[in-house]
Amino acid sequence: MARKTVNVALIGQGFMGRAHSNAWTQVNRFFRPAAAAVMHTACGRNRASLEDFAARWGWRNCSTNLRAVLRSDEIDLVDLCTPTAMHYAMVTEALAAGKNVACEKPLATKLDQARELVALARKAKARTFVWYNYRRCPAVATAHQLVRAGKIGRIYHVRAVYLQDWAKPEIPLAWRFDRKLAGSGSHGDLNAHIIDMCRFVTGEEITEIAGAIAETFVKERSILTGETTGGLSLGMKKGARKGKVTVDDAVLFLARFSGGAVASFEATRMATGYQNYHGFEIHGTKGAVRFKFERMNELEYYDATADRAVQGWTTIMCTHGGCHPYAEAWWPDAHVIGYEHAFTNQAYDILQVLGGKKPVVPLPDFADAYETQRVLEAALLSAAQKRPVKLSEVK
Ligand SMILES: NC(=O)c1ccc[n+]([C@@H]2O[C@H](COP(=O)([O-])OP(=O)(O)OC[C@H]3O[C@@H](n4cnc5c(N)ncnc54)[C@H](O)[C@@H]3O)[C@@H](O)[C@H]2O)c1
Repeated sequence: MARKTVNVALIGQGFMGRAHSNAWTQVNRFFRPAAAAVMHTACGRNRASLEDFAARWGWRNCSTNLRAVLRSDEIDLVDLCTPTAMHYAMVTEALAAGKNVACEKPLATKLDQARELVALARKAKARTFVWYNYRRCPAVATAHQLVRAGKIGRIYHVRAVYLQDWAKPEIPLAWRFDRKLAGSGSHGDLNAHIIDMCRFVTGEEITEIAGAIAETFVKERSILTGETTGGLSLGMKKGARKGKVTVDDAVLFLARFSGGAVASFEATRMATGYQNYHGFEIHGTKGAVRFKFERMNELEYYDATADRAVQGWTTIMCTHGGCHPYAEAWWPDAHVIGYEHAFTNQAYDILQVLGGKKPVVPLPDFADAYETQRVLEAALLSAAQKRPVKLSEVK
């Protein structure tokens, strides 16, 4: 019997447009998903660069008519890679047209909109997915499995950081610095990922923000002229005029988890020396795990139930097919994978779900991503009002 296929429409051709295109290109080759991806249409604004993009990545069609793409009978899955403020209207339209939607994170710029999208998706009975791709690093998925298997015990401490340093004063006012387009700065961009990862690995929810700090170090930036070209600050051209930065450069907060753990989160684009350093450390009664993305193939594990004489951190190379999630699809042991593979792993799980199968590890849908969005909102509230905020206040 012929395998089910899923016609994908990609919206946006920037950084994530390339990462997702690569994932859709690779997924049928390295995996055998329950439904095969068909790279049907790439949609963007600039016809000339879009044609080049579509030809380079293997999209069969390209279109600058967003509405027609979202409504096309030929499309099964809309994959959104546009600036965060655009997610809401595009997702709403895609859901109304009966599409399944894979949306980049964070789901929306405003909590109200995220809540509405959850309700609309439920009503439309659509399958929804949010690209919290770091869950699909084999080492992070292994940490999730160790916690579920009881190897860490009751969790006491969660410590997570996401540190970048690209937002130097000379970088122009791209959409990421505009609250109307991004919602927040490092917070929605970076804290969103580590909140999602820590919720995923611990299997617990954050119940309270005990306190938070938000800071904008660079208050004004030169106006951006032209497009961003596929990297965070790559190829940005600037004019002489300046505009106001309306988002944070850094947000730090303390939190509590439902199982009683205390936690700290730190996101910044101003951590000179760290280009894309992120990870977590989780300590429990029986053991601990720690992960840092710069060594993304490795998970460190501490077994506190081992004989005291041999207790110590073990570095696990999470590349062993059959033991480590997704590893069997790639290369032999210790033939390491990189940034883009987590996106392909996610594309596989999306296709498994659309083909009626289970994902390898839980996939964040809109309802799940909404929980991360609530935490983002609560932390900003805590920073603005300089007070603890219970998650029950942020619905
Ligand atoms: N999962 C991750 O690790 C990750 C990493 C980076 C960005 N993101 C998220 O992905 C989204 C996009 O970020 P990016 O870094 O790819 O941005 P980008 O600036 O590199 O690309 C944005 C793209 O959207 C296009 N676009 C803008 N308005 C449009 C419109 N009205 N119609 C069609 N296309 C439009 C732009 O032309 C560009 O091609 C954001 O929500 C961001 O938070 C996620």
